[in-house]
Amino acid sequence: MPALLQQAIRAAGGLLPFHQYMQLVLYHPQYGYYMSQRPRLGRGGDFVTAPEMTSLFGELLTLQWIEIWQRMGEPATFALVEAGAGSGRLAADIWRTAQRFPPFAAALTYTIVEISPDFQARQRQLLQEVACPMERIRWCTTLAELAAEEGVEGVLFSNEFFDAFPVHWLEMTKEGLRELAVAADEQGLTVGRLPVTAPLTEDHFTRLGIPLPVGMRTEVAVAANVWMSQAARCLRRGAIVTIDYGLTRAEYYHQGALPEGTLTGYYRHQQVNNPLLHPGEMDLTSHVHFTDLAEAGEAAGLQTLGYGTQAWFLMGLGILQRLEQLARTQSAEQMQAIRQTVMRLLMPQGMGDRFKVLVQSRGLAVDPPLAGFSLHNAKQRLQTPVAAVPCTG
Ligand SMILES: C[S@@+](CC[C@H](N)C(=O)[O-])C[C@H]1O[C@@H](n2cnc3c(N)ncnc32)[C@H](O)[C@@H]1O
Repeated sequence: MPALLQQAIRAAGGLLPFHQYMQLVLYHPQYGYYMSQRPRLGRGGDFVTAPEMTSLFGELLTLQWIEIWQRMGEPATFALVEAGAGSGRLAADIWRTAQRFPPFAAALTYTIVEISPDFQARQRQLLQEVACPMERIRWCTTLAELAAEEGVEGVLFSNEFFDAFPVHWLEMTKEGLRELAVAADEQGLTVGRLPVTAPLTEDHFTRLGIPLPVGMRTEVAVAANVWMSQAARCLRRGAIVTIDYGLTRAEYYHQGALPEGTLTGYYRHQQVNNPLLHPGEMDLTSHVHFTDLAEAGEAAGLQTLGYGTQAWFLMGLGILQRLEQLARTQSAEQMQAIRQTVMRLLMPQGMGDRFKVLVQSRGLAVDPPLAGFSLHNAKQRLQTPVAAVPCTG
């Protein structure tokens, strides 16, 4: 990887814009972190996601898909499109749960949009192993393949997908907003500064009413927003459901709460603050900017139906009642393990509050609220203005 990076940095004139660096180290076909054949998910990997922790996650999401299908008038064909399916565990759990609702299962088609050939192969293997109807499951490498078709009627969803998108890394300096870039010297990779490049402009934050103090570093997920716009255009009728760790604009920029932004690395279970270390071997991620995603969808004609924490969403879908049901058939020992996992999904210190769910729709009735938002819907928070920050520079 370093030789390839040196080459890319030289080709860029000595300063490679950070989003291009991130694209290379995560997605280079040969060396990219997501493209290589190492275990990255599950207990032996770099991170454990909700579907890897418990099949209840997929089970409850399936109940939400069924409600959306019913609200759409139970169409004879209902498309589920999962973006970034990792090991395929969530897809397997959704298919298994769907079998309990035969008319819904009969309507289902499943498309996985997955960039990594290695992950595609693992998904195929797992779905075959658990006897999914392979003739109704297909793979696309990019969203463009889907966009070329007549449009999705159903649900396009993702879990921990947008946080892995390349971001534009920015810094407010005394001279104005600058884009951070990667340079190389004898010591290794270093950070340099460039004028802000399109589609961002130097007044990007001013136009959004965000007072960025001098010295603050932050990131804008331009590629994620573009992906959301494309996905919105692919959706003829139904919903886009995004589950990930992230914040609203007001939370993100509240009183300089995150002076360094949220860009970070994960290398062998350890968080690494310097994103330039371990290129190609470290996961790079940043919190999802949910207000940006909601606005990208709205600009493409979607309606923001709901937004809230994963904890409220799963409780709205009945996760606690499901625990009670399970207690009737599982041993005390099994129940203890299940409860512990569910608590990790729900607890504020665990994933319950850090993870959010955003539901955007086209052609779906707003009332009554979807089950996932029946207990709580915080969608108005997406539009809370950013409070003024005392200027330090
Ligand atoms: C962090 S993993 C999450 C996997 C899974 N959703 C889960 O919850 O376990 C991110 C997944 O998204 C895929 N991915 C990342 N960027 C992508 C893109 N632009 N298009 C399609 N898949 C992508 C990765 O290869 C990986 O499968």
